Amino acid sequence: MAFEETAPELAQNVRSLGFDVEKLVAGGKLFIDHVQIEPSEIEETGDYDLEGLFLRLGSAIDTVGAKRVAIDTLETLFASFANERILRAELRRLFRWLKDRGVTAVITAERGDRTLTRHGLEEYVSDCVILLDHRISEQVATRRLRIVKYRGSSHGTNEYPFLIDDRGIEVLPITSARLDYEASRDRISTGVPSLDEMLGGEGIYRGSTVLVSGTAGTGKTSLAAQMVDAACRRGERCVYFAFEESSRQIIRNMRSIGIDLGAPMRKGLLRFDALRPTLMGLEAHLTNIYRAVRDFGPTLVVVDPISNLASSGGSALAEGMLARLIDFFKTRQITLLLTCLTRAGETIEGTEVAVSSVIDTWVLLRDIESSGERNRAIYVLKSRGMKHSNQIREFLLTDDGIRLRELYVGPEGFLTGSARLAQQAREETEEKTRREAISGRKRAMIRRKEDLEAELAAKRRAFEAETEELRRSIEEAERRADVLASDRDDMALERGSAVRRPGRVRPRARRLKVARRGVES
Ligand SMILES: Nc1ncnc2c1ncn2[C@@H]1O[C@H](COP(=O)(O)OP(=O)(O)OP(=O)(O)O)[C@@H](O)[C@H]1O
Ligand SMILES: [Mg+2]
Repeated sequence: MAFEETAPELAQNVRSLGFDVEKLVAGGKLFIDHVQIEPSEIEETGDYDLEGLFLRLGSAIDTVGAKRVAIDTLETLFASFANERILRAELRRLFRWLKDRGVTAVITAERGDRTLTRHGLEEYVSDCVILLDHRISEQVATRRLRIVKYRGSSHGTNEYPFLIDDRGIEVLPITSARLDYEASRDRISTGVPSLDEMLGGEGIYRGSTVLVSGTAGTGKTSLAAQMVDAACRRGERCVYFAFEESSRQIIRNMRSIGIDLGAPMRKGLLRFDALRPTLMGLEAHLTNIYRAVRDFGPTLVVVDPISNLASSGGSALAEGMLARLIDFFKTRQITLLLTCLTRAGETIEGTEVAVSSVIDTWVLLRDIESSGERNRAIYVLKSRGMKHSNQIREFLLTDDGIRLRELYVGPEGFLTGSARLAQQAREETEEKTRREAISGRKRAMIRRKEDLEAELAAKRRAFEAETEELRRSIEEAERRADVLASDRDDMALERGSAVRRPGRVRPRARRLKVARRGVES
C-alpha cells in the first residue's frame, strides 16, 4: 500500500535496484494499491475511522494471498488527518488487525527529533524496529542500519553500514564475535623461492593475511603480481583489486619484469577489478569486494593498495573495515595479500592503517641509499607461526622476475647495487694479487731447490772424478813401489846376498793380485 507513489512510479523507481515490479504484478505475486488521500475528499467527522483502509487492504491481501504487507508511509496519514488522537487509536487497531490476519507487515515512518518515530509509533510497531540513517563524514556518504529492538531475539546492537545499488540492498557482513575460523597448515609459495626460504622455507600459510608495505616504487605491485602468477600457475583462481592503476597498465608494467598476467586472465583464472577509491564510499567498495569474491571463488585476493582504499573512508572507518575484510577472507580460507604505501619519512610501523595486529605476515620493502644510488631491500617483519629469517636481503627486479640476494656486508657496512659490484671487484683483485704472490714464492722455492740439487750433483760428480784420480795415482804409486822392491830382490839374488826360501811367494806377484782386486772392485 503506497501513499506517495503510484504503481508505475514505484516500478520505475525500484528498477534501478534490480527489482522487476511489473513482472511480479503480472505473475500475481504482488499487488500494489496506491491510496491517494486528499483532505478535501475525506469526510472528517468527530469519530472518523480507517475502516475504508481496512477494506482496501483486506481485498488486496486476498487478491494475491499475500504473506507480507508493506505500508509506505504512515507520514502521509499523519499529514492528512487533523485529529491525531483518533488516528493513533485507529493505527493501533490496524496493527492488531494485521497481526490477526497473520501477515508480516513492514511499515515505514520518519524519524522524530528525540523519539524514534515522529509520532511515537514505536509502541505499536514494537516487534522489531530498524533504524536507517544516512550520514556524511569526510565528504563520503555512508548509510547505516541499526536494529533498535527485536522481540524474542538476541539481535546485534551495532550500527552496520549498508548499501543500495543495482543488486538491491546489502548489509555488510560484520565481524563475527567469535574468532573460530579454521587455521590451515597448508603452505603456499610466494612465487619467489628465496622469499619462501626466508619464510621458514615453505612460504606463507593458506588463508593467512599478508601485508607488503613500502615507500613508492619499491616493488609492492611486482611482488603481488609474482604471487598471483604463482597461484595461477598452480591452477588457482585469483582476484586482483587495483585502486591505483588500471588492469591494462598493471599487465603492461608487469611484462617488464617478465610476468604475463594476461595469460591467466584469458584462461579465466584471474579477474581484475580496478576502481578509483574515491568513486564510492568505503561500504560500497567492501560490498563490491564481497560480491566479486562470492561470484568468482578465488583462493587468493590482492588489494593493491589498501592505503588508498582506507583513505576513502577516514581513518576511523578504515580500522573497522580492515577488520571486516580480514574476517571475511579468514572465514573462507582465502589468502589475502594487501599492499600498503608508506610515505617517505614515516617510520616503518607507522603505516597509514593500524594493521600490525591483524596481519599474519608482514613483508617490508625499502630503499637503501648509498654511494649515490638507491637500491631495494626486503625483510620479514613478522610471520606468525613460523621461523622466519631475520635478515635483510637485497630485492632485485629483473627482466625475468624478482630475485633476492644476500646483503653484501663490506668493511663499511651494507653494500648494494654498483657499490657492491665495485667492492666485489676490488676484493677479487686483491685476492688475485695475494694468490699470485703465493704462487710466485712457491715457484722461487722450487727453483732454489732445483739449483741446489744441480749444484749438489755437480759437486758429487767433481768429488767422484777427484777420488778416481786419487785412486789411480795411489795405484800407480803402489805399483811403482812394488816394482822397485822386486827389482831390489832380484838384484840381491843375483848378487847372492839373499837365499830364496822354498814356498815363499814372491811379494811382487802377491801385491799385484791385491792391486788388481782393487781395480775390479
Ligand atoms: N625489468 C626491470 N628491471 C628492473 N627494474 C624494473 C624492471 N621493470 C620495472 N622495474 C622497476 O619496478 C618499479 C615499479 O615496481 P612496482 O610498480 O611493483 O612498485 P610499487 O611499490 O607497486 O610502486 P607504487 O608505490 O607506485 O605502487 C619501477 O619503478 C621500475 O624501476
Ligand atoms: Mg603499486
